[in-house]
Amino acid sequence: MKISLTVNGRKKEFDIDPMKRLLDVIRDDFGLTGTKESCGEGECGACSVLMDGKPVTSCIVNAVHADGKTIETSEYLAELPLGKLLVDCFDETNAVQCGFCFPGFLVAAYYYLHNDGEPNLEKIKFALSGNICRCTGYIKIFEAVMVACQRKKAGEL
Ligand code: FES
Ligand code: FES
Repeated sequence: MKISLTVNGRKKEFDIDPMKRLLDVIRDDFGLTGTKESCGEGECGACSVLMDGKPVTSCIVNAVHADGKTIETSEYLAELPLGKLLVDCFDETNAVQCGFCFPGFLVAAYYYLHNDGEPNLEKIKFALSGNICRCTGYIKIFEAVMVACQRKKAGEL
């Protein structure tokens, strides 16, 4: 089956197995291994990407359902001003331990910061509720996103 996808600004056309997952296209065909697989069942958020600007768990999206869509991965978002702010805040608050969950958290936090960004702990927790971290206990992650929201609100960006 033929599909076309734009990932991080790069458009490609493929002839693919209709059962192939978006996650595999991103990692194998585009070589973007920042997007991780953990549960493979849509539960942990490690494979999160933005599809036409909205977060999806790419392990449960068939690539054919992404035909014609625009995908943005953590590598791309980390280079944008809000993404850079988030990376700095995660770094400064020591919110990353093993780092496996980080790309997924970055995508979810970016979406929140871009579309709302209120420095409100309950809203931040809700925005990140689809992402699982086995290492940190979440407190530092929430703190990192809170600091990023405060800096954005203070006009740093
Ligand atoms: Fe996709 Fe866990 S690997 S949600
Ligand atoms: Fe290890 Fe989150 S830092 S899973």
